[in-house]
Amino acid sequence: MTSHARDPRRGDCRSPTPPRLLSDPLGVLHEDHLRERHVCAILDRLAAGETVARRDLDQAAGFLGTELALHIADEEADLFPLLRRRCAPEDEIAPVLVRLEADHLHAGVDTPGIVAAVRAGPDRLDATGREGLRRYANHARRHLILENAIVLPFARLRLAPGDLETLGGRMMRRRGIMAPTVARDAGDAADSGPETWE
Ligand SMILES: [Fe+2]
Ligand SMILES: [Fe+2]
Repeated sequence: MTSHARDPRRGDCRSPTPPRLLSDPLGVLHEDHLRERHVCAILDRLAAGETVARRDLDQAAGFLGTELALHIADEEADLFPLLRRRCAPEDEIAPVLVRLEADHLHAGVDTPGIVAAVRAGPDRLDATGREGLRRYANHARRHLILENAIVLPFARLRLAPGDLETLGGRMMRRRGIMAPTVARDAGDAADSGPETWE
């Protein structure tokens, strides 16, 4: 059982993903997906005109404004290149990753406006704003389905222990957390890591 599965409170969007989970990088990515799904539910409630607590709005804006960019970087700079290298041709992972990268591009464009709408709160939302929230949440959920159903299972199947160790180290360094025992330089991982690593 992974560490994220031992904590039933996770996925509630209450706090950033804890560094301890970076020893289980795929668990961290799954954890982020749970939190993103929770944020989508907040966006739905806001779009529906329901009362949403300021605390929930702040947490949703915090996740979308800060953590989502880190999560996308984890996937695009580290996980996806590893999958391209490790998956077999019959896995047919390449078109899935292209689709997900296109989603990330759209998210990069749309997310600042969504964060601004969430921070402004329900009183400032018009019909166009509510539709924007709904559309953003629906796109995000479709993205999460693909990643949870295809990307993470292939990662668990195809990545070697050394890949996971390097992935976790790079995720820690991306967050400014020192990980001297696991964070290898890209050059050190040249025989096992993707060529496009930063
Ligand atoms: Fe993701
Ligand atoms: Fe993603």
